Amino acid sequence: MNVLITGGAGFIGSTLAGRLLREGYRVSIVDNFNSAYDPALKRQNIRRLGPAGSVMVYEGDVRQPQFMRHVLRHEAVDVVVHLAGLAGVRPSLQNPTAYFDHNLNGTTVLLDAMRDTGVSRVVVASSSSVYGNRVQGPFLETDPADEPVSPYALSKRAVELVCSQYSRLYGLNAYCLRLFTVYGPRQRPDMAISRFLHQLYRGQPVRLFGDGHSQRDYTYVDDIVDGMVRAIRRVSGYEVINLGSAAPVSLLELVWLLRDITGRHSPIEWQADQPGDVPLTYADIDKARRLLGYAPATNLREGLTHMVEQLGKPTVLSLS
Ligand SMILES: NC(=O)c1ccc[n+]([C@@H]2O[C@H](COP(=O)([O-])OP(=O)(O)OC[C@H]3O[C@@H](n4cnc5c(N)ncnc54)[C@H](O)[C@@H]3O)[C@@H](O)[C@H]2O)c1
Repeated sequence: MNVLITGGAGFIGSTLAGRLLREGYRVSIVDNFNSAYDPALKRQNIRRLGPAGSVMVYEGDVRQPQFMRHVLRHEAVDVVVHLAGLAGVRPSLQNPTAYFDHNLNGTTVLLDAMRDTGVSRVVVASSSSVYGNRVQGPFLETDPADEPVSPYALSKRAVELVCSQYSRLYGLNAYCLRLFTVYGPRQRPDMAISRFLHQLYRGQPVRLFGDGHSQRDYTYVDDIVDGMVRAIRRVSGYEVINLGSAAPVSLLELVWLLRDITGRHSPIEWQADQPGDVPLTYADIDKARRLLGYAPATNLREGLTHMVEQLGKPTVLSLS
């Protein structure tokens, strides 16, 4: 099967590419290597995939219709995994237009290119942030998702609705996977766990936003990738599916765990709550179990330990 991964040089995309290559899939990647974080890290992600030629990498933008049509035809793509986009809640408050452009417009251009070239299956990265400001979980796919609290969350909800409409109007098969805080080796440097590790190894204070009681359903990247591979094999019709670990942990617990695993004990520096942040994410994963056979297997301590081991020496933490 020929799988095209948009955003395949990024954290989740490159991990997925590695798994698919190991399983014998033919993989191609589209990525614009943007500077949301150091593009050298993305090039490193590509190099890790193996010798040049094991994967076709197209440096370009999903918002370019001609380019996308060319790639889809040339690679005879069977399934697209669409991960390209601007990630992260906080920067979206500074630059909403860019988020709508890359995420919503980018998805629409891609889906049009797929329609033009007869590619009918796509697995799309949505986000737990679409559930908005909730204090109780777990979150079910059928729960309301019409009050997103950041431009990022709004862009992801809009992407789901576009997929739903293309499914009804044009017969697109689309699974929109609502990912819950993904972590693991090569995580984006702007995400909390990467930042905390960076601060711990530098002996800097660990900067926490809020009172430390906000909770996240941290999910190990290999579990997410396993859910994606299952979605690639099964995608049919339109579905929204949570991929989480169904085990939320508070920010303070996370920091204690990281201190314990690293043996570094920097003090905590408290910072004001950030607009756009939500108090809780907590996935109900029954639908993923039923439709995909999804079964996350990595608890937070195991996953963080593995992530820290992969970092190796603290000097590898060349995070900006
Ligand atoms: N990491 C998480 O916890 C998480 C949670 C929910 C959803 N997601 C979504 O999963 C996807 C992947 O996330 P990630 O953490 O791997 O982020 P990432 O930033 O590492 O990967 C995204 C990649 O997309 C590329 N890109 C961005 N805009 C593009 C465009 N217009 N054309 C081509 N390439 C473009 C970037 O260069 C980058 O390599 C994103 O859509 C993100 O919103 C991630």
